Amino acid sequence: MTIEPTAFLAKMEKRIGFTVDDKAILKSSADWGKANASVMADHFYAYLERDEEMSAILNAQEGRMHRLHETFIQWFHEMFTGVDDWSEKYAKIRWHIGLVHVKIGIAPQHVVPAMAVVVNEVGKQLRTDDKAESLQEALGKICMIDLAFIEQAYVEVSSSAVLRETGWSEALFKRLIATGVSSM
Ligand code: HEM
Repeated sequence: MTIEPTAFLAKMEKRIGFTVDDKAILKSSADWGKANASVMADHFYAYLERDEEMSAILNAQEGRMHRLHETFIQWFHEMFTGVDDWSEKYAKIRWHIGLVHVKIGIAPQHVVPAMAVVVNEVGKQLRTDDKAESLQEALGKICMIDLAFIEQAYVEVSSSAVLRETGWSEALFKRLIATGVSSM
C-alpha cells in the first residue's frame, strides 16, 4: 500500500493541472521566493505558535524552532526551483517531509490550515508586490501538491503498519474500514 513518490508526484501534477507554464513562472520567480521565504516563515510559525498543541510540539526540543525556520525557508524556495525540475529528488524530499510529520504525530487537522496560511500570506505579498496572477496560481498548485504528500503519508504509514503487524490483505483491510464507517 506504500506509494512510489515520483509516480505520486506525476499523478498529482496531472490531477491538479500543474503545467510546464506553471513551472516556468515559478523558476523565473525563484529570486522573489528566496527574498520572501523568511517573512513567510515568520507568518507560518506565528500562526502555529498561537495554537496551544502546536506550540507545545514546536518548543518540545531545544533549537527546534530555529531549525524549523531554516527548513521552512528551504522548503519554500524549493517550490520555485523544483530542485530537479520536479522529478525524483523533489518527490523524495516531499515524501520525507510527510514521513517526518507522521513520526512526530502532527495530524492533518493541523497541516491543512497551516498550508492555507502559506497560500493566504503568499497571495497578500504577491498583490503588494504587484506580481502576476499566474504566479499566484502556480504557487497555489505546488502548495497543494506538497500538502497531498504530507496527507498521503498518514494514510500510507498507518495502513502499512496495520498490514505488516496483522498480516491482513489489503482487500480485507479496506473491507474492515468500510464496515467501520458504516457503524459510525
Ligand atoms: C504546510 C504545512 C507544513 C510544511 C510545508 C512543513 C514543512 C516542514 C519541513 C520542510 C520540515 C523538515 C522535514 C525534514 O527534515 O525533511 C518540517 C519538520 C517539522 N515540522 Fe513541519 N511543516 C508543515 C506543517 C507543520 C505543522 C502544522 C506543525 C505543527 C507543529 C509542524 C511541525 C514540524 C516539526 C516539529 C518538525 C520537525 C522539526 C525537527 O525537530 O527537526 N509542521 N516541517
